[in-house]
Amino acid sequence: MKVAELSVPEQVKDVSLRYGVSELYPPQQEAVQAGVLEGKNLVLASPTASGKTLIAELCSLKHVLEKKGKIVYLSPLRALANEKFEEFKKYTSIRKPDGKLVSVGISTGDFDSGDSWLGRYDVIVTTNEKADSLLRHRVKWMDDISLVVADEVHLLNDGDRGPTLEVVLARLMQVNPEMQVLALSATINNVEEIAGWLKASYVITEWRPVPLREGVLLHDEIQYKDGDARKIERKTRDPTLNLVLNTIKMGGQALVFASTRKGSVNIAKKIAANIGELLSKPVKRTLVHESEKILAAGERTYISESLAGLVKCGTAFHHAGLAGAHRRLIEDLFRKGKIKVLTATPTLAFGVNLPARTVVIQDYRRWETGYGYYPIAVLDYKQMAGRAGRPRYDKFGEAILISKTVDEADYLMESYILARTERIWSRLAVEKIIRGHVLATIASDFAHTENGIYNFFSKTFYAYQYDVKAIRSIIAKILKYLYDEEMLDLFGKDIYATKFGKRVSELYVDPLSAVEIRDALRKKAIQLTDLSLLHLISHTPDMGPIMRPYSRELDELALLMEEHKEELLTKIPKELGDQVAYQELLGEIKTALVLKSWIEETSENTLIEKFRVQPGDLYRTIENAKWLLHATHEIAKLFGNKQVIALASELIERIAKGIKKELMPIVKLEGIGRIRGRIMFNAGYHTIAEIRNAPLEDLTNLPLIGPRLAKKIKEQVGGFVKRETWEKLEKNEEWKQRSLAEY
Ligand SMILES: Nc1ncnc2c1ncn2[C@@H]1O[C@H](COP(=O)(O)OP(=O)(O)OP(=O)(O)O)[C@@H](O)[C@H]1O
Ligand SMILES: [Mg+2]
Repeated sequence: MKVAELSVPEQVKDVSLRYGVSELYPPQQEAVQAGVLEGKNLVLASPTASGKTLIAELCSLKHVLEKKGKIVYLSPLRALANEKFEEFKKYTSIRKPDGKLVSVGISTGDFDSGDSWLGRYDVIVTTNEKADSLLRHRVKWMDDISLVVADEVHLLNDGDRGPTLEVVLARLMQVNPEMQVLALSATINNVEEIAGWLKASYVITEWRPVPLREGVLLHDEIQYKDGDARKIERKTRDPTLNLVLNTIKMGGQALVFASTRKGSVNIAKKIAANIGELLSKPVKRTLVHESEKILAAGERTYISESLAGLVKCGTAFHHAGLAGAHRRLIEDLFRKGKIKVLTATPTLAFGVNLPARTVVIQDYRRWETGYGYYPIAVLDYKQMAGRAGRPRYDKFGEAILISKTVDEADYLMESYILARTERIWSRLAVEKIIRGHVLATIASDFAHTENGIYNFFSKTFYAYQYDVKAIRSIIAKILKYLYDEEMLDLFGKDIYATKFGKRVSELYVDPLSAVEIRDALRKKAIQLTDLSLLHLISHTPDMGPIMRPYSRELDELALLMEEHKEELLTKIPKELGDQVAYQELLGEIKTALVLKSWIEETSENTLIEKFRVQPGDLYRTIENAKWLLHATHEIAKLFGNKQVIALASELIERIAKGIKKELMPIVKLEGIGRIRGRIMFNAGYHTIAEIRNAPLEDLTNLPLIGPRLAKKIKEQVGGFVKRETWEKLEKNEEWKQRSLAEY
């Protein structure tokens, strides 16, 4: 079937053709035949790289151009949301019948916000969590959604992301009964069950545009699924390394999945040390340049130095411990073919298009605290394998599992390569997860009676798979808890959210966190300090995994805790009474201490070395801290605690930038972060007025501030720049730039 024959507007076809898509792939054709372009609900389950996104694109554009529709594209991960947003952008040159251009928006953060501005866009790409929080705010435009796309819908099975996805879909279907649902899925075992739940038809295919050869490497030989075998040159004693070197020699790029962050760094180092002779001189030269970019992005730390060192050798690692800016740079370098090998934890397993001809899966086991090692699911294996052989980049791909013994090789062939993917199951029935959703159902006026609540939960995938009766007792228990904690109120048979309950739901925090915060605010601290609030938020379940102290830190933390006992707002467990709770407390103290050091302007590198916290985790903790301090601020407002209101809003600003209080006035300027802010402050610029009066040349004489930035600063503070001064400086800069380029 040709794109030209489709019943979609001509401009959409033109864009497709321009991007090299003229003929539909068979799974896409089946989706069209199933009526997806006529508005039918559909679950499209087909292998990795089979072009599921295109169906979502065609459907979306049809809604926008022919039905004045609005589309929400749900992605389980931020990185994937970014990639899809970029892909949708190619349609923004198309004009709608009303003369305006097609518009695409993205929003993945800030959960306590209605974001009504998002409603201006035709296509809105969001994460599941963001969509959930928007629903809680009852954002008006959500009632106008005519199509929802649920990407990677098999992640319903994921304990963290699945429940939010199913609640969001159930709610959207409740609010917009006419809305079309398009769910994109890997090939799983119970597609028809998901389709039944979504009142959709389904398409299941096994077709892939680019052949993917799956195999197991034992010593120096790959055994493929089809019985074929291939020998790999045994250059070193490490089979993964040999396989990667072989791929590069043949002109391909490799993606290696390791099971831990440390594992991904170790194998990257090994590869970098051996890859030298395979990289040409010009390639090496551009890599030197790229590695400088890595160092220039953000603060210099030993992690960014190690990454930059690897990039020089055409290799990099990628995991959640890396700063976002570094992750994006690395993804981009790999996409452009500048780095040849990427080693990653499974953060890159879903949905993304990368030029990996060979995917190596080093370890089929994962470590989970409390469980030990367990083998990954076939579904996860297939997703990782499916990053190889993407049609935009390669004509074929291979995915290789590494084995150490003959038995293990047999096991891997049978249990992964030849195995069928598992059924997926709803993960909703956990009290901690349902708690917030029960509150939201009432607080956002989706239901006001016990029956109304059951009625909503009976629309979830959980109820479709099991029976809503199975979670009745959990819901009843939650209702009682929320009532006892004064988030709900009763009027006869009707249940309403109190002001507190409503705000908690909007703030998108776990009711348990809100209760912790409220109770702490009621208790008068003898001394309210930064540490009081930083510890309080670290104590709430929403802070996520707290930073585990290392044994050498325990004594110091215990001492610190004793010294600052008076400042803490929560109950303090006794060491001898409850060991587990006491250990938790020390972890919370450590988290609070890291945040405190951050706002005392400790350098990132010192934080990493002193606390062994990686940048990605540091940033996540900072993000969480901002969100929870905002929640604290709002709850304090509700209960009228002035002291906390003032301190929380100050801390939010300081945490966002990592600064002491004295820098607050000047880091408001664009282009001034904590490093430059400190330089300016120490040079005597303490206020905006002082900067306004400063001569431009004085600013440019400061380290890290060039003429352009200085001019930008002056413009922001309303200062005056003389034309001659600027021209002189600009010439200087041009000259500097040129001499740098020549160098
Ligand atoms: N009909 C087509 N002709 C040529 N290229 C296509 C066609 N359809 C899709 N592609 C290209 O195929 C690649 C893979 O598509 P896509 O990302 O949609 O895969 P997917 O099915 O979503 O895979 P995954 O399950 O891994 O997410 C993209 O680069 C896309 O541009
Ligand atoms: Mg996809």
